[in-house]
Amino acid sequence: MATKQQELGAEIIKKRLGRASLVQQVLFYPLVSSTNKVAWEMALTGCPEGTLVVTEEQGQGKGRFDRSWLCPKDKGILTSIVFRPALLPVEVFRLSMLASLAICRTFSRFSGLGARIKWPNDVMVNGRKLAGVLLEFPASSGKVEFAILGMGINVNFDPQAIPELQGIATSFLRETGRYFDRLEVLAQLVMEMESGYLALKAGDFGPVFDKWKARLTGLGEIVQIMSGQGLDKGIAEGVDENGALIVRERNGQTRKLFTHDIAWGLKEVGS
Ligand code: BTN
Repeated sequence: MATKQQELGAEIIKKRLGRASLVQQVLFYPLVSSTNKVAWEMALTGCPEGTLVVTEEQGQGKGRFDRSWLCPKDKGILTSIVFRPALLPVEVFRLSMLASLAICRTFSRFSGLGARIKWPNDVMVNGRKLAGVLLEFPASSGKVEFAILGMGINVNFDPQAIPELQGIATSFLRETGRYFDRLEVLAQLVMEMESGYLALKAGDFGPVFDKWKARLTGLGEIVQIMSGQGLDKGIAEGVDENGALIVRERNGQTRKLFTHDIAWGLKEVGS
């Protein structure tokens, strides 16, 4: 148990992650707007795959659908990794799947507790959100030039103390009553990501997909799909290897969703 709230820094992160082949470069900032934004700018300047951006505080931390990501200074893991993957655009969400699985495994290893994944890649513990994953990549034809994988993990604070997070978020501290060494949590996360990414690059994503799917909640539930065209309901029938949610709609047809906003666990599919 770590009771001292240690700070992160470039040198200690580099030293601790020295042997990780996934990490080629560490950029640490005490405060940034958003690690995804910094990583995106780095990617545009041609930085190598494996550029890891870490911060202690974000002024404009962002989540999916332009929501904000809140995390008090020095209390969480706020990081983004630049990938230059040999993946088709339809396959790129595999990186998010690696991330949510890696976070679940990291949490379970440190806490001894289970964690589940709410589609697409929210990490949930006891029905509350422990961590979020934000994948961003430039829309271009045919190939993925780069992808930014952002991860926010709640570690050493109680989200109940933050009005916007009350009742919906949790943390390592809240679930265990203990403080954790964030450097060790980050190191484990990188190790888990690395083994998944090596498997993905070797064309052996199947076992990773199976582990991801085994942690997924909500299959078989009625869902509401929020899109530009309004709302629609269907049954979440399954997922595919690229992380798409397969939904059977009221008209009997199935639809594959990648980035939609979904409300889960509704009572009925009709009307
Ligand atoms: C979500 O759940 O909607 C995704 C949240 C992702 C948050 C992380 S924190 C580090 C990185 N930088 C950001 O601005 N967002 C991601």
